[in-house]
Amino acid sequence: MSFIRPHPDRTVATAGITPAPTDFEHPPADPVPWAMRWLDEAMRLPTPNPNSLYLATTSADGRPSVRTVLLRSFDVHGAVFFTNRQSDKGQALQATHRAALLMHWDHLDRQLRIEGAVTHTTEAESDAYFAQRPRDSQLNAWASDQSRPVSGMAAMRERQQQAHARFEGQPVPRPPHWGGYRIALERVEFWQGDPYRFHDRVVYARTGAGWTATRLMP
Ligand SMILES: Cc1cc2nc3c(=O)[nH]c(=O)nc-3n(C[C@H](O)[C@H](O)[C@H](O)COP(=O)(O)O)c2cc1C
Repeated sequence: MSFIRPHPDRTVATAGITPAPTDFEHPPADPVPWAMRWLDEAMRLPTPNPNSLYLATTSADGRPSVRTVLLRSFDVHGAVFFTNRQSDKGQALQATHRAALLMHWDHLDRQLRIEGAVTHTTEAESDAYFAQRPRDSQLNAWASDQSRPVSGMAAMRERQQQAHARFEGQPVPRPPHWGGYRIALERVEFWQGDPYRFHDRVVYARTGAGWTATRLMP
């Protein structure tokens, strides 16, 4: 077996930011402002999608799957992303109403993990997000039966044309099967890397109105 190793000559873009250090020995009582600070610092990274997250779901028959989506909102109520609710992930969420997410910012040597119950965003929230998307993205949301098989690009283009024709000269409404999901903050884990693998970890669990913070070994 040969081992995968990063090339020794690669140059690392450091983003030029100095993230505020975190005192893992005295974790704050509330993880939400902490997570918001990490997100804020990550959003300054010179990477194309610093708000990308890995979303893990489980199907009704227990098959795990994971894919990337973009974090579009984050607050005390949870982490929000948008998608086609008839997609594979949409069907899994319909079955289990639970998800786990992971964000990894390599430049910052940080990882944020969240687990919790999943609910639909409100109609108003989904409408507001859809309304500010580029028109072509709005049309493509109608054209794509996300996660379903297709014969190829010709068939896709035809579906695109149909969407264009259908909404020509008028605003594109949000498809009824398209919208947001909010993952509640039930378990929130902060991880800060150490070069010799003695990483810092703190996990928060909801306890009624408050939180319990627990240090974990790396
Ligand atoms: C950087 C990146 C961002 C993505 N953002 C989204 C997103 O916000 N919503 C979405 O539905 N798919 C997004 N995708 C595509 C998903 O990873 C996935 O292919 C798609 O949602 C279908 O997943 P499913 O078949 O498991 O439902 C993104 C992919 C990448 C690589």
